[in-house]
Amino acid sequence: MDDDIIKPESDPTEDPLLDSSLRPQRLAHYHGQEDVKKNIDILIRASQKRSDVIDHILLYGPPGLGKTTLARIIGNEMEVDVRITSGPAIERAGDLASILTNLNDGDILFIDEIHRLHKVVEETLYPAMEDHVLDIVVGQGPSARTLRLELPKFTVIGATTRIGLMSAPIRDRFGTILRLEYYSDEELSRIVMQSAKLLNTDLDPESAIIIASRSRGTPRIANRILKRVRDYADVHNNGEITPEIIAKTCNLLGIDVDGLSKLDYQYLHVLVNKFGGGPVGIETIAATISEDKGSIEDVIEPFLLQKGLIKKTPRGRVATEEGVNKVTKSN
Ligand SMILES: Nc1ncnc2c1ncn2[C@@H]1O[C@H](COP(=O)(O)OP(=O)(O)OP(=O)(O)O)[C@@H](O)[C@H]1O
Ligand SMILES: [Mg+2]
Repeated sequence: MDDDIIKPESDPTEDPLLDSSLRPQRLAHYHGQEDVKKNIDILIRASQKRSDVIDHILLYGPPGLGKTTLARIIGNEMEVDVRITSGPAIERAGDLASILTNLNDGDILFIDEIHRLHKVVEETLYPAMEDHVLDIVVGQGPSARTLRLELPKFTVIGATTRIGLMSAPIRDRFGTILRLEYYSDEELSRIVMQSAKLLNTDLDPESAIIIASRSRGTPRIANRILKRVRDYADVHNNGEITPEIIAKTCNLLGIDVDGLSKLDYQYLHVLVNKFGGGPVGIETIAATISEDKGSIEDVIEPFLLQKGLIKKTPRGRVATEEGVNKVTKSN
């Protein structure tokens, strides 16, 4: 997925400062996800009323929908520090211990990709989340003893694109589990307008909606397209963004009017033309388009499912009638 605009990882050519400058800092500037925001607003206000730490929260949903952004916002709203780490980054129980003992009361520990936590780390985390204690083993062999350390009261915000890969015990330790949904075009257009303002770029509402409709419901992709459109307009149109300029940029990027990328088309093409519309297993599709199964499950399929172009069945993936039409039209 090297040069594909839909890929979830931050683009290495992207200026990280620019990316973070587009991140909203407050709940009021976080558009969309109304149900999630309502839940979070109540959690924040209840904990402030009780002067207690906020309950552990698990956020899940496809990449680029704003999980990390939301965790930072919760920290800002609660006026506490957010310590950011990720499942694979915590290699040993000792690493987790040093993170936890360095937290202050009320702090938030954000664990990205929490489904990739190592087993021993996960087991150390249970009592820490439940009772704010840490059990550490000192010494080895028969003289080994377990020491129990009191920890500050902290909140874990976990994020995952794959809730299905999480073990039940860890999932159950989150009092609140919130699913982030793809954004509507209207919500995305508000995000794009906000980003354009931060980038000092003129953007009219009509153009914002067009960018939104090509962004597969994902703010990260919307912001990426906006930046590319701005560049294209700077070079070819004295900086003026028009529907035509957007269409040309998206053509270059290989994104169609519905936000489908080349990879989505490859997937559909294999499913429809090579396997007669399915059912076919994901491994087979992955091998045929030489793409990692994980990214197909995380990025491609959720969007095609949401668009009603494919269906998941117990025997494999199946193209819907619309899915077949999409491929036939593009041939
Ligand atoms: N609701 C929102 N309102 C405004 N901007 C948003 C919103 N959600 C996300 N963004 C923008 O989209 C970008 C990507 O969001 P973020 O990094 O939080 O996604 P993520 O869900 O953590 O993705 P990943 O799963 O890949 O880690 C952010 O830099 C931010 O600018
Ligand atoms: Mg993130």
